Amino acid sequence: MFNSKSHFFKEFEMKSRPASKTNARQSGRKFAVFVINASLIVAAALPYSHAGGISDKPWSEKAITDHVQQSRLTGILTTQELNLLAAKGKKLFDAKFTVLDGAGRPLATHAIIPTKRKRPIQKAFNRISGPDANSCASCHNQPVTGGAGDFNLNVFSSEGFTGQGSDSTDPQFSNERNTNHIFGAGLIELLAREMTAELQELRRKVLIDTRNSGQSQTVRLITKGVDFGNLTASADGLVDLSEIQGIDTDLVIRPFSQKGVITSLRQFTINALNQHHGMQAMERFGQRWTAEADFDGDGLPNEVTAGDISALVAWQATLAPPVVFKPEKQNWQQASAKGMKLFGKLECTNCHLPSLPLDSLKFADPGPLDAAGTLRQSDSSTQAIYDLAKTEWAASLPRNADGQVVVPLFGDLKRHVMSDGEVNKLGNELLSQRFVARNEFITAELWGIASTMPYGHRGDMTTLDEVITAHGGEARLSRDRYVTLSEQDRLDIIAYLKTMVIKQ
Ligand code: HEC
Ligand code: HEC
Repeated sequence: MFNSKSHFFKEFEMKSRPASKTNARQSGRKFAVFVINASLIVAAALPYSHAGGISDKPWSEKAITDHVQQSRLTGILTTQELNLLAAKGKKLFDAKFTVLDGAGRPLATHAIIPTKRKRPIQKAFNRISGPDANSCASCHNQPVTGGAGDFNLNVFSSEGFTGQGSDSTDPQFSNERNTNHIFGAGLIELLAREMTAELQELRRKVLIDTRNSGQSQTVRLITKGVDFGNLTASADGLVDLSEIQGIDTDLVIRPFSQKGVITSLRQFTINALNQHHGMQAMERFGQRWTAEADFDGDGLPNEVTAGDISALVAWQATLAPPVVFKPEKQNWQQASAKGMKLFGKLECTNCHLPSLPLDSLKFADPGPLDAAGTLRQSDSSTQAIYDLAKTEWAASLPRNADGQVVVPLFGDLKRHVMSDGEVNKLGNELLSQRFVARNEFITAELWGIASTMPYGHRGDMTTLDEVITAHGGEARLSRDRYVTLSEQDRLDIIAYLKTMVIKQ
C-alpha cells in the first residue's frame, strides 16, 4: 500500500533537489502562509540539495531522506493520504538520526523554550540532560514500536521550559520518568480538546451570566462526567480559581507526560526531538522565533520541517488503542470478571474511568490549543484533518446510545495528589513542573498496562501490586480498601489488569 514510487508519495514530499524561493514562485505552487512558511519550507531542502537526492542511495548515512511539505496537508486527508503520511511518521519515529541530519545540539539545551548553552557541549551524548538516544523507537519499544520502555530508558526531565540541564541523577536536578506508551494517543488528545472546549464554555457562560445579573455565580466544572471543581465569577469581574482541581488555571487539559503538563502530540514531539536527539523543529527553533536557522550551532540549518512534525503526529495519532482481551483459560476469565467488579467496588474507577465518550474522530493538526513555538491554527491558512474513522481500528470501538465513540482509556485526564504523610512512594519528586505540586500526577491510563511493566512514573516498581499499594493522597481510601482485601481478591484485580494489553 505504501508504494514510495507512487505519484501520491511524490506529491506529498519535497524531493531532495536544489530549490529556492524563486523556484517555488516560478512553479506557481501555493504555499501555506504561516508568514515565513514558503521560504522556510523551500530552504529546508537546501542541506539535502545535492544533485539526484539521496533517496536512491541506500548507503547514505542520513536517516531523513525526504522532508514532508506542510503546505500539501490541507483538509480531510483521504485514507490513502493519511496512511502515507503516517507511514512517513513511522519512518521518522524509527529513524536513527545522524549528524548529517542535524543530530546533536552543541550550543542549545534540552529546554522547551529555545535556550542557548552557557558552556558549549563537551560530549555528543549525555544520559541525563541529553541528547540521550538515537531514535524515538529506541525508548518507545515495548512490546512494539510506540510502546513503553524499561527502567534503563528512563528520562531525566527538569522543569523543562528553561534551564541548562544537569549531569547528575540527583533528584534535586531532574525528575526521573519511565517511558510510557503512545497507543491510542490520538483519542486521548481528542478527548482533552473536547473537554477543554466544554470547560472554557462553562467559564464563558458564567462570566456572561454574572455580568448580566450583577450577582456572583459559581459553576461546577464538570465535563464528560469528570469533576474539575468550582469556578466563581464575582460581580466586580474577577474570577476565583482557588477551587479548581487537577487542571491548569487556563482550563486547558494537558493530557501528555505523566505529570499532565503537555498539551499536544505536536508539542511533545518537538520537545522530544530536541531533548533526546538534538533535532530541531523549524516551527520552534527556526527563523521565526529565534531569528536563526541553525539555533543549535551544529552547522545544519532547518533540521525538521513542519511537515515532518505533522507526519510524526499523524503516525502517533493513528496508533490503535490498546484492548481488553478475553483470556482463553477459564480460571483467568473467572478471576478477571471478579476483579472487574472489585475494581469498581474499591472505587478505582473514580479516577481510572473505564471509558470516556468522544463526539468526533476528526483530529485537526495543528490543533486548537497550542501556544507559540508549536505550529498553531492561527499560523496557517490551511489545516489538515486526520479522520481517525479512516483507521483500521476505528470500527472496533463501540458507540454509545448518543452515537459517541466510547474510548476505553481507564483514566480521567485529571491530575491527583498521589502521596500523603504515610503512603508517599509516589511523592518522590523534588522539582515542580509547570507549577504543579510535586506529588500530583495525571491519572495513568491503564489501557495497555499488562504490556508495560515496570510501573509507576519512575518505573521503579516491578509488580502491579506494588504500584497499587503505593497509591496515597487522593487515592488513599481506595488503596486502603485494596490492601485489606484477601489475597485471592487482590489477585483477581491483577487478573483483570492483566487483560489490558497493547495488541501486537
Ligand atoms: C530516552 C527515551 C525516550 C526517547 C528517545 C523518546 N521518548 Fe517519548 N517518552 C519518554 C518518557 C520517559 C516519557 C514520559 C515523560 C514524562 O512522563 O514526563 C515519554 C513520553 C512521550 C509521550 C507522551 C505520552 C503520554 O501519554 O504521556 C509522547 C507523545 C512521546 N514520548 C513521543 C516521543 C517522540 C515523538 C520521540 C522521538 C522524537 C520520543 N518520544 C523519544 C522517553 C523517551
Ligand atoms: C485518586 C485517583 C486514583 C484512584 C482512586 C486510583 N488510582 Fe491508580 N493511578 C492514579 C494516578 C494519578 C496514577 C499515576 C501514578 C504515578 O505513577 O505517578 C495511577 C497509577 C496506577 C497504576 C500504574 C500505572 C502505570 O503505568 O504504572 C495502576 C496499576 C493503578 N493506578 C491501579 C489502580 C487501582 C487498582 C486502583 C484501585 C485500588 C486505583 N489505581 C485507584 C490515580 C488513581
